Amino acid sequence: SSIESSIPPLTPHYAPDTSSAEQPESPSTTSLINSLNLQKHIEGGYFAEIDRNPLIIPNPFLLSSPPNQLWTPTPPDSDDIAPGRTTLVPRSGDDLMRNASTSIFYLLTPRSPLGAFHRNKGRTVHTLIKGRGRYVLIHADEMDVKGEVEGKKRVETFVVGHNVERGERACWVVEGGKYKGTFLMLGEKDGGEGEGLLISETVIPGFEYSDHDFLTLERFRELVTEEQAIELEWMVRK
Ligand code: GUN
Repeated sequence: SSIESSIPPLTPHYAPDTSSAEQPESPSTTSLINSLNLQKHIEGGYFAEIDRNPLIIPNPFLLSSPPNQLWTPTPPDSDDIAPGRTTLVPRSGDDLMRNASTSIFYLLTPRSPLGAFHRNKGRTVHTLIKGRGRYVLIHADEMDVKGEVEGKKRVETFVVGHNVERGERACWVVEGGKYKGTFLMLGEKDGGEGEGLLISETVIPGFEYSDHDFLTLERFRELVTEEQAIELEWMVRK
């Protein structure tokens, strides 16, 4: 039970060229990075925020259970009227609100070809602009995969590219709560558009670091089979 896919399995030997990672980007990639004013992303690759919706909405994740985080227990040093009773006080602070959406450009390059496994609480709509790559999703928010050891989750992979007639995706949605990793397809696999995978992403509600986390190696090993772990471990942030 390797990664479910009609496409040949991922090579476990896809070795991101760590020697060349120290080299500068090519002139064409550097020009693209400069034109779009891209910065290094903590996941790998480069990004620039291109929109932050000025519409402000209540943070919807505070309502998700458990618990209802809109209310926090009374601090111990407060003048509570009923000692020993847990009262709840309305939560306050920056986390109460979100921008309705944010959008970014995101670029993977030959020198920074990996977006390491991470998840966001929000749902993200992706649109391909240029290039070809592969996405790997770990459905950590779903029930366990039947017939597997407890805790093993569904793993999904697909190619993003312009060849939609061959099943490549030019537009794709990743629901909140899923671990997502992505890598650039290089050389003959690049789709013939020159180097780099350039996409746009819109996340709803808007991006905040407090809604984002990386997959740890420990958690990764709990979520996937041993076979999948061998194949995908290089996509876990070190
Ligand atoms: N800042 C750091 N990472 C991100 C991201 O993925 N999206 C946005 N909008 N801002 C960020």
